[in-house]
Amino acid sequence: MIEDDTGKLIAAAGGTERDIGDALRAVGPERAVQLLADELIHRADLEDLPHAEAVVRFACHLGERTVNHLVHVSKGSARHLADAGESERATAPDVTVRYDTPELVRAVFGPTSARTSATRRVEWHTTDPIGPHSEVPRTAPLVQRLLRGTVPGPDDLAELSLRFGSDKWGLHFYTPLFERHFASLRDRPLTLLELGIGGFDDPEAGGGSLRLWRRYFHRAMICGVDIAEKTVAAGGRIRSFCGSQTDPVFLDSVLERVGPPDVVIDDASHRCADVIASFRHLFPALRPGGLYVVEDLQTSYWPRYGGSSEELSSPATSMGFLKTLADAVNHEELNGPAPDAVDEFGPHVVSVHFYHNLAVIEKGTNKEGTLPSWHPARAG
Ligand SMILES: C[S@@+](CC[C@H](N)C(=O)[O-])C[C@H]1O[C@@H](n2cnc3c(N)ncnc32)[C@H](O)[C@@H]1O
Repeated sequence: MIEDDTGKLIAAAGGTERDIGDALRAVGPERAVQLLADELIHRADLEDLPHAEAVVRFACHLGERTVNHLVHVSKGSARHLADAGESERATAPDVTVRYDTPELVRAVFGPTSARTSATRRVEWHTTDPIGPHSEVPRTAPLVQRLLRGTVPGPDDLAELSLRFGSDKWGLHFYTPLFERHFASLRDRPLTLLELGIGGFDDPEAGGGSLRLWRRYFHRAMICGVDIAEKTVAAGGRIRSFCGSQTDPVFLDSVLERVGPPDVVIDDASHRCADVIASFRHLFPALRPGGLYVVEDLQTSYWPRYGGSSEELSSPATSMGFLKTLADAVNHEELNGPAPDAVDEFGPHVVSVHFYHNLAVIEKGTNKEGTLPSWHPARAG
């Protein structure tokens, strides 16, 4: 996990009251409340709302202190008024949302079971109703959206993929496979590294999958690598790095910045040699229990990408290499000399899952040992 201010809050949100208190002191309560408000703004999908605007005051209590943070929210955008140097006196809030600060940290970045809102109070200051026969304030839908990020959402990965502009559902149909392997990781503070941000040479295009992962993994740092410079997809819990998936010096510098990843997804050049080079470099850096995913394995059969439809087990193709990893799972059972990849990766590859155009490799300790030498099955 990246040890920046957001990382500190995420790590503490799964711990005790004292852990959260320590993190709030380290980050500073004002900055912490701003980061929490930022995350709620991201989760609100404000662009989907009907036209409306409101000034929301977060009044976050911490012992005797109250941190007041004002946000101007409207369809499609939000602005921290404190940042703009606009004082509370100059901007009357339409609504105050009160929270005990430690609970807000847990409600935003905590594991699902810890996300409560027992200390929350919503106080409307402008009560202009939503319609002629209603007593619900006009700003209520906006405020509800802003607070939506404190409760676990019923997120469907396919829907998120389409919303954020990834091709992981629609062109491909990977999202049910990701759900199968990622569901148990959702509540953990983790680091996800995706090779290939998207948009190719256009600096302003791409970033769909980084935004998708940011929403799906509410406690994760999301890091992207692309050979093209990207101005999209940075900020909040997203970090992006420019360089090639085949450059070991660059990859080491990324690892130094983000720490050992829990999940790596290769969705970059899809050239066989690049896929293999990245795996060789990044799999050893993956945390035990981590997952390495390779997308778009159709290119393993296409010569333009260094693939072959004839030599299906060639170790120079992505699928040939990954099939060797299937043998690596049983590295302790081989009687004769094994391909390099079997010896190199066998002790660390726990499982290999193949799907249509996608593979998931699970890292762990694979040293159970074979049957004892006296076992009848080994005789002869
Ligand atoms: C298919 S797009 C990624 C899509 C994105 N992951 C998504 O789901 O929204 C592939 C990206 O990989 C990048 N790319 C190509 N070769 C690369 C390399 N050698 N190293 C890093 N990125 C590369 C391209 O610039 C392109 O933006």
